[in-house]
Order: sequence, then structure tokens, then C-alpha cells
Amino acid sequence: MTAEILKPTQSALEKAAGILRQSGVVGMPTETVYGLAGFAFSEEALTKIFKTKARPAFDPLIVHIAPPENSDILDWLSRLELIDGEKLPPQSRRHLLTLAGHFWPGPLTLVLPKNKKVPDLATSGLPTVAIRMPSHPAAQALLKCCGQPLAAPSANRFGKISPTTAQHVFDELGDQIPLILDGDSSEIGLESTVVALTADGGLTLLRPGRISAAELKEKTGCDIRVIAKAAGGSTAQSAPGMLASHYAPNKKLMLLKAPVCDLKEGAVYDGALPETLGLLTFGPADKARKRFEELTGKEVFCESLSESGCLDEAAKNLFSTLRRLDQSKAGLLFTEPCLSEEGIGHAIADRLRRASF
Ligand code: TXA
Ligand code: MG
Repeated sequence: MTAEILKPTQSALEKAAGILRQSGVVGMPTETVYGLAGFAFSEEALTKIFKTKARPAFDPLIVHIAPPENSDILDWLSRLELIDGEKLPPQSRRHLLTLAGHFWPGPLTLVLPKNKKVPDLATSGLPTVAIRMPSHPAAQALLKCCGQPLAAPSANRFGKISPTTAQHVFDELGDQIPLILDGDSSEIGLESTVVALTADGGLTLLRPGRISAAELKEKTGCDIRVIAKAAGGSTAQSAPGMLASHYAPNKKLMLLKAPVCDLKEGAVYDGALPETLGLLTFGPADKARKRFEELTGKEVFCESLSESGCLDEAAKNLFSTLRRLDQSKAGLLFTEPCLSEEGIGHAIADRLRRASF
């Protein structure tokens, strides 16, 4: 099989919806990263998603929904048979309305008590389901065309770098899926913020993203628990998706302790260095390259995530730049740390830690 890449015209959307109705899977653009979409209520489609990504069954999927027409979000989620409203304490109900009101459609995933109709495959047997309403027009158009929620993990092989263009999806999975909708580069570039609405009425941040813990607190008035540490093992039922190693390039990536301009001689790497090194910087590429060449005595292939140090731009470029470095002739990759862990800096730092684990 070789995937077709199509712009999201009406006929391409209908073609994609036709494949999905037959329990097939397609590549779908979103504002965060590209997803591998299949009908959330089709066990056959869910099985294909796990198989295509070589994803372990313990890592649950995110279910994507279209914006409601003329109904409030609680009604909409109940009508779609996704959540069990009875299991939502009043405080969580308020959080749901507030957070969906502010951030949907957009890069926020909410983990809620699941309706028993949602297949266990989608939730890895958990009593909760992760739900997101994407803002990307092509994702919304596809959801509308299908009239059904779509389960969609990021469209990469498990543990690898998430795709932010249709071409990335093709490079990852093009020989396994029939169609990829091309919705240009993902605007945000990092996966959605995942937040659990817990039975005690609290909020737990399970994965940092564009929407920060501070924004969640500001809107809800609720302190946000943060799962700070990555789970070390290969199973992660208590905090699925929080595996220590994730988003990883094929080549080894080393996280530097400081920006290259602040590094001392001998503080780069303990082992033997290959002739060409890759370097990711958060500032001007030329300056970082020269300094790193001085420090290592090697040829350096350097790419900047944002010449002006803008973190939103760095987030948008992170995965595509990592991919390019992975494909370059560099034998070993280095990245500067993200100095700010505020706002989207928290999400960037999280991805760099996991990619370099
Ligand atoms: O931005 C995104 O969220 C992208 C796009 C395609 O929408 N999707 C995405 O999916 O990142 P994926 O499968 O790569 O990440 C899903 C993560 C899981 O690894 C886990 O962290 C969390 O969502 N998750 C899903 N269901 C959960 C549940 N019931 N409880 C806790 N976490 C859950
Ligand atoms: Mg993923």
C-alpha cells in the first residue's frame, strides 16, 4: 500500500470518510500534530490504529469530537455516548464547562469518566476516556463528514517523533495506510495538554502542552496537580503515556546542561565524539555552531528552533527540526536545554527530556 496525500477538498474529505466508515484508518491534520484517525466505536479500526503504530495496548487513545451544534458540551458528550455524566461530581462538571468553554476547540484533552459504550481498546481498559475537540478546519470538516468521534493518536511509530506535516506521516506510515489529508504544517507543533478531571473534583496535568498549568488554574481557580516524573518502566497504567523515553530520534540525542555559550571546555560529553555532530539551539544558529565547533573540535551541523528565541516558534519547529537532524550526516545529536519552563517552555522541556532519555 502507498498512501495518497490529498488536500482536504470536499471530495478528499468524502474519500477519507468512506475509508473510515469501512473501519479503515487515515492521516488527519490537527493544530497540534498529525493524528492517525479511526472510528472510536469500531474495534476493528482501533485494532488497526494500534497495529499500524506498533503501539502497546496499555497506552490509551484520544477521542476527537466535532464542535456541538446547538447543544451544551455536557449534552453533546452524553449524546455521543462518550462519557458517564453520573460519575462526574458537581465540581468536575463545573471544571468541564469552564475548560471546554475557554479552550475548545483547541489543544486541550480532558480525561473524563467513560461511557460503557466506549470500547475498552480505546481506553486501555481504564474507566476514563480522553477527549479533545481539535480546532484545525480539516479535522473539524472530517469529523463532521463522518458524524462520529474519531480516535487519533499521533501518526508516528510508537515512541518516535510526532509528525507535524503530511510528508512526515507519509515517511512514518505511508506504506501502511491508504490516505493522508494534507492540512499544512501543524500550527502548535506539540501534542495537546492532557488534564484529568479526578473523582475528588481536582485537576491533574498528565501531559504538558500549549495550554499551561497556570492558564488552567487561572480559569478554574483550582490548584493543578502535576505528574512531574516520567514513569520508568514499560507499562504505565497509573499515568499512561508518561513513559520516560518518547518522541525519540533514531540517533542518540544528548541534552546539554546549559546553552552552548555558557558551556566550559570538557563539559560537553564523556565519550568519544564522531566527526560530525548535530546541534539544536534556541537562538542564532551561526553563533551556537561556531561555539560548539570550538568546544568539540568537530564539524557541527546546527539548526535553530527560533533565531529570535521565541518559544512558540521553537515548539512549532521542534519535531520537524529533530527529524532533519536525525536524517543529517551527524553521528550524535545534542540539544540545548529549554531555559524557561514557564508556559509552553514546560512542554518543550518535557519533550526534550523524553527524546533524550
Ligand atoms: O495533540 C494531541 O493530543 C494529538 C493529536 C493527534 O490530537 N494526539 C496525541 O495522541 O498526542 P497520543 O496517542 O500520541 O497521546 C495520547 C495520550 C496517552 O499517551 C495518554 O498520555 C493520554 O493521552 N491518555 C489517553 N487516554 C487516557 C486516559 N484514559 N487516562 C489518562 N491519560 C490518557
Ligand atoms: Mg504520541
